[in-house]
Amino acid sequence: MNGPIVKVDGVIKRFGAVNAVAGVDLKIARGELFALLGGSGCGKTTLLRLLAGFEQPDSGRILIDGQDMTGVPPHLRPVNMMFQSYALFPHLDVAGNIAYGLKREGVAKPEIAARVAEALSLVKLEGLGGRRPSQLSGGQRQRVALARALVKRPKLLLLDEPLAALDRKLREGTRFELVRLQEQLGLTFVIVTHDQEEAMSMASRLAVMNAGRIVQAGTPHDLYERPASRFVADFIGLANILETAPGRWLALRPEKIALSAERPATAHAVAGTVVEVAYEGDRSLYRVAVDAGPLMQVAQMNVARGTESAFRRGDAVWLGWADDAGQVLHE
Ligand SMILES: Nc1ncnc2c1ncn2[C@@H]1O[C@H](COP(=O)(O)OP(=O)(O)O)[C@@H](O)[C@H]1O
Ligand SMILES: [Mg+2]
Repeated sequence: MNGPIVKVDGVIKRFGAVNAVAGVDLKIARGELFALLGGSGCGKTTLLRLLAGFEQPDSGRILIDGQDMTGVPPHLRPVNMMFQSYALFPHLDVAGNIAYGLKREGVAKPEIAARVAEALSLVKLEGLGGRRPSQLSGGQRQRVALARALVKRPKLLLLDEPLAALDRKLREGTRFELVRLQEQLGLTFVIVTHDQEEAMSMASRLAVMNAGRIVQAGTPHDLYERPASRFVADFIGLANILETAPGRWLALRPEKIALSAERPATAHAVAGTVVEVAYEGDRSLYRVAVDAGPLMQVAQMNVARGTESAFRRGDAVWLGWADDAGQVLHE
């Protein structure tokens, strides 16, 4: 079937006085790895639970695979959800955890065994089927939760902060594994995260949420290069936000500004003083105090010149940028 796998039309969900989801419209195409990105409390989990059927919208409707999900309970939706807490059963072993949903559906024993083995191999946990969750590392528990969500072969897999509980190194490696798995299986993944780097590096498209609304949706490149508002420019990556006229701003990425000792020939040139240098190996990030303006953030690559920052704290510098270096914003 063509058409989007998910279509959300004007969905609102309140909890008492809280507008957790305050009017969301959204389309997700088949085979996408779509990310919902936003700060804590902006409504990401609630939107995911609405898709899964654990919550019902107060108004609006959700179509999945072309079917209106109004009144359809979670187990009858072509959807599975991996919870942020993983929610593994401590008294069941790994295989038992993965098989649980299939058993409840009355799937025949030999088929359960085959599908559990397949799921274990997908997440590279062969041989660990007999362990209890308490005998696993955090990364392994995360894979069990993933296998349990995949074993039912949903068309749509919802993952709530799937990497948040892992330590940094493991988190970065696991990002690529999730992307590879999603491509290999050809499923649609919707990943919730508060981590913009994670969303940007994994997603084919993402939606930035704020206060229960989607403020912008697009590819990672769209959102980075063409943020629609100061909120998005600031949330995704670093940005200098300059007020160029009342109600008009320029979002200028740190790497679009050149730093030099002499006045540059660029369309815009401003003098300032370096107040901070953060050395990051391949690049350095400078904060520069300029006359009559906010502190400016400037990023410069160090690679070409060896690995030292070109300027030090206290240096007098020039900042230069081209006319088309930034994005003009009206909100
Ligand atoms: N079951 C609930 N009862 C009352 N308030 C809730 C409930 N679930 C979520 N909320 C509130 O709705 C808002 C959005 O929550 P949530 O969707 O969990 O945000 P996120 O996942 O983006 O951190 C928050 O203000 C939260 O406190
Ligand atoms: Mg959440």
